[in-house]
Amino acid sequence: MNISQLQEKIAKLKEKNNACILAHSYVAHEIIEIADFTGDSYKLSVDASRVSNKTIIMCGVRFMAETCKLLSPDKKVILAQPSAGCAMADQMDKRMISRIKEDYPGYSVVAYINTTADLKTICDVCVTSSSAEKIINNMKEKNILFIPDSNLGSYVAQKCPDKNIKLLNGCCPVHAGVTAKEARLAKELHPNAELLVHPECLPEVTALADYVGSTSGIMNYAQTSDKNEFIIGTEISIAEHLQYLCPDKSFYLLSKKLICPDMKSVTLTDVYNALAGKGGEEILLDPETIRDAGKCIEEMIRLGE
Ligand code: 13P
Ligand code: SF4
Repeated sequence: MNISQLQEKIAKLKEKNNACILAHSYVAHEIIEIADFTGDSYKLSVDASRVSNKTIIMCGVRFMAETCKLLSPDKKVILAQPSAGCAMADQMDKRMISRIKEDYPGYSVVAYINTTADLKTICDVCVTSSSAEKIINNMKEKNILFIPDSNLGSYVAQKCPDKNIKLLNGCCPVHAGVTAKEARLAKELHPNAELLVHPECLPEVTALADYVGSTSGIMNYAQTSDKNEFIIGTEISIAEHLQYLCPDKSFYLLSKKLICPDMKSVTLTDVYNALAGKGGEEILLDPETIRDAGKCIEEMIRLGE
């Protein structure tokens, strides 16, 4: 069987099961091709809240599948590859943040969506990389404890100077592994290219960028720009998807290290197995978690609109 034959089998099973496929833009191109919805974490959350299908297959990482379940508790949500976690989401848990909250009385806890559903139960509002600035500016509270990503947090703090934002020391090991030296070298190698980076990169890398934004933000920027060359400072799949979308433009990798092993662990076979009832993991959350963590996600959508 070849890739397109497997894609056809997936399309038939999807129809039969009244399922829809959500795929984060970091997954492989052959999954993007058969997905009903693709994009960054914010877009996928909004899409998940609107779909009418009974079953959602999430091709992404665990916190994204949990977010779908929080938004659609009556739907069956299946994480296509059960081992796909997020190294940043696993850095902080509810116990740790409950203790830290005691040091910041009166602060609102803003959680990057890259956190577990369990941790979200003690946070006030969620943000994504594309919505953080807008949501924090729309909050009435001035004092904010931002968890877990210190790089996104410091980027947002610059954009929201009226807020008092405290940061912890979490990060995405994939994005935070890129150095300013690599960014300068890539710019020297491709002097006509614009550097587009994700805000999970270090501040000294975002400082060198022509554009800083979420995965969808980077893709939209490159597609609509009248420039022809871009250095992509986020997961390497984005450069590949963009090359298909814009065959006449050139896309270079900021660093070959920008590979998320968890996103890359999701395969087309996983999608087939999840639909065929032979794989994947149904996300089950208890009613208290759905109630408390759900508030945090609903607040994100309310303040982000
Ligand atoms: P986006 O919100 O840009 O999709 O980011 C999610 C993520 O995990 C980036 O590493
Ligand atoms: Fe998590 Fe980083 Fe992978 Fe995004 S790229 S899913 S933040 S480990």
